[in-house]
Amino acid sequence: MRVGVLGSGDVGKALGRGFVTLGHDVKMGSRDANNPKALAWAQQAGPRASIGTFAEAATFGEIVVLATLGVANESALKLAGPENCRGKVVIDATNPLEVSAGMPPRLATRGQDSAGEAVQRFLPDAHVVKAFNIAGNPFMFRPDFPGGPPDMFFCGNSDEAKRQVEAILRDFGWNPIDIGGIEGARYLEAMCIVWVLTGMHTKNWKQAFKMLTK
Ligand SMILES: NC(=O)c1ccc[n+]([C@@H]2O[C@H](COP(=O)([O-])OP(=O)(O)OC[C@H]3O[C@@H](n4cnc5c(N)ncnc54)[C@H](OP(=O)(O)O)[C@@H]3O)[C@@H](O)[C@H]2O)c1
Repeated sequence: MRVGVLGSGDVGKALGRGFVTLGHDVKMGSRDANNPKALAWAQQAGPRASIGTFAEAATFGEIVVLATLGVANESALKLAGPENCRGKVVIDATNPLEVSAGMPPRLATRGQDSAGEAVQRFLPDAHVVKAFNIAGNPFMFRPDFPGGPPDMFFCGNSDEAKRQVEAILRDFGWNPIDIGGIEGARYLEAMCIVWVLTGMHTKNWKQAFKMLTK
């Protein structure tokens, strides 16, 4: 499968590396087609990895991964071109974090909304699935924790898109849990803040969520 990863930060690199390791072809997109961080990533990731602009990565991908600064999602997607995402599954791993007042971050969204819903509104012809946003980047691929695979909650409006993302999450080493439509992103993005608060207070960032059921 061809995967377009929009984002050259730690998340883009971690998810891109995961897809390459699983045998997929990945193009990492940036504002600058020659972004040095993306270039270094591609050189390390090997022949299945390439780089380009946001638009080139979105065009390349049979599926697209959004891994941009959450408050800059719209600006990155404008550059990517909504038409280049038409009909595709878009995995939204972002969190709309506002850090001007320091740590912990606050959610930049207001009222009954989320970055996931905003991405779906901006890409009405794509199938947006919120996933991977409640994990630290070092654990996004093959998370190894005592007690078995941690849970990854995900949501989106298309059942078919969610089945694809569910399979990807399993391939990445997660136990996927579908929580419904894209409006669930409001709560998954808030869970990211719970993850940060827990890390700050326990001073241990090697953590992931697990739901106990019987
Ligand atoms: N870090 C984590 O462990 C973690 C975990 C879960 C979720 N997340 C979420 O995942 C997303 C990516 O996080 P990250 O730490 O990898 O990187 P980041 O620093 O939050 O974002 C880097 C990416 O955002 C793009 N970007 C920044 N400002 C932009 C603008 N004004 N217009 C267009 N694009 C812009 C950058 O473009 P260039 O490539 O051109 O520089 C780069 O590709 C964030 O939303 C974050 O909240 C992070």
